[in-house]
Amino acid sequence: MIVNLYGTSAVSDEGHLKVGGIDTVQLGKKFGTALYVYDVAMIRDKARAFRSAFERENVNYQVAYASKAFSCMAMIQLAEEEGLSLDVVSGGELYTALKAGFPVERIHFHGNNKSESEIRMALDAEIGCFVVDNFYELSLLEQIAEEKNVKANVLLRITPGIEAHTHDYILTGQEDSKFGFDLQSGQVERAILDVTKMSAIHLLGLHCHIGSQIFETNGFVMAIEKIYSYLTTWYDAYGFEPEVLNLGGGFGIRYTSEDHPLPVGNYIEAMIETIRNQVTGQMNMPEIWIEPGRSLVGEAGLTLYTVGSHKNVPELRHYLAVDGGMTDNLRPALYQAKYEATIANRMNEAKDHLYSVAGKCCESGDMLIWDCQLQRAIAGDTMAVFSTGAYGYSMANNYNRLPRPAVVFVENGEANLVVERESYEDLVRHDLPLKQAIISK
Ligand code: LLP
Repeated sequence: MIVNLYGTSAVSDEGHLKVGGIDTVQLGKKFGTALYVYDVAMIRDKARAFRSAFERENVNYQVAYASKAFSCMAMIQLAEEEGLSLDVVSGGELYTALKAGFPVERIHFHGNNKSESEIRMALDAEIGCFVVDNFYELSLLEQIAEEKNVKANVLLRITPGIEAHTHDYILTGQEDSKFGFDLQSGQVERAILDVTKMSAIHLLGLHCHIGSQIFETNGFVMAIEKIYSYLTTWYDAYGFEPEVLNLGGGFGIRYTSEDHPLPVGNYIEAMIETIRNQVTGQMNMPEIWIEPGRSLVGEAGLTLYTVGSHKNVPELRHYLAVDGGMTDNLRPALYQAKYEATIANRMNEAKDHLYSVAGKCCESGDMLIWDCQLQRAIAGDTMAVFSTGAYGYSMANNYNRLPRPAVVFVENGEANLVVERESYEDLVRHDLPLKQAIISK
């Protein structure tokens, strides 16, 4: 029986939800709840779907996993195993990648305000490329790379004036974004010309990311067409052409049954076809890079909770509280994100009760799901919330001093603990007693 939204989970003889061949109720007992569980086979499938779409098109490519979606050493090692490259956006994400032994030449460093020490760290590690966001970073990087007598590979992040909002694309003239060089106002052209004078920088090409949770191909098509309308002019004027065109991430996933994502190959085909149509005359086909985060890990993750208290307001709402909430999944509170759930130990029972699933934080907005059709649930039941694999653990926090949950990878009937649950001791690890923190004159 197929029960989860994406389709690989199954149900045990006792009516328990299984993931990757393992009973989730057992997982909850063994590792405690709240618990993030990843179906590793699903992550591999997604990675392979992206890669084989490129292989079919016979182009040079890199699929870089946007590790902001979910970063821990095991995940980085899995990305490596699947032949992915890696996008990191901070010293912390870079450190995790280095600790995990990720091949440095496949690491791409993002961020709109990289610090001097982050730039030094990345240069020392000899990472593959910097995605440079602004003029300040460009000159800082040139200065540090020159001082170290190394050459930094660079993509310039540009804002092409196309922004995707799930199903809508907004065409903005002067794009109002904190990221990247603005195309329309001439910043990109200026940056390209500046780089030609920089001896410690090798300009690999351009990067753009038009948004997230995108369900159609036309935003990418529009962005490519817009970029090429400039590129052809620059080619004619200075012979500039990008070796690499990085089109970012943003491929939509299914959080609820109302979401209908495209097969990932559709995006890749549309991108490549558009680029092929735009590359004219003497220009060469660039290497094409993408940066999926959510679409690689989102649907593969679920969160297990234990059901606790109920509050039934007659005729109004039946609240069901779980042992987690906005601390392990900030997305409903931050973006009004929607999720679906099930009672994992009652898979053979009808979903004939209407509940609203509340978190345990001291905040009225700490609601995981409003109006959720579920099996009748009592305290001690295990709840599974689906599609929490992206931006769940990575945005987890310690509000109310809740320890961050553990993360378990399951594959072929085996469960591996990949991130330990935080302890209360971890919570006070960096606290100092009242007097000790004082600096005396
Ligand atoms: N590349 C760049 C430059 C990005 O800024 C992002 C996401 C990605 C790739 C990956 O996008 P994805 O494929 O995961 O959609 N916390 C928000 C998402 C913020 C995304 C920021 N950038 C959420 O929970 O929905």
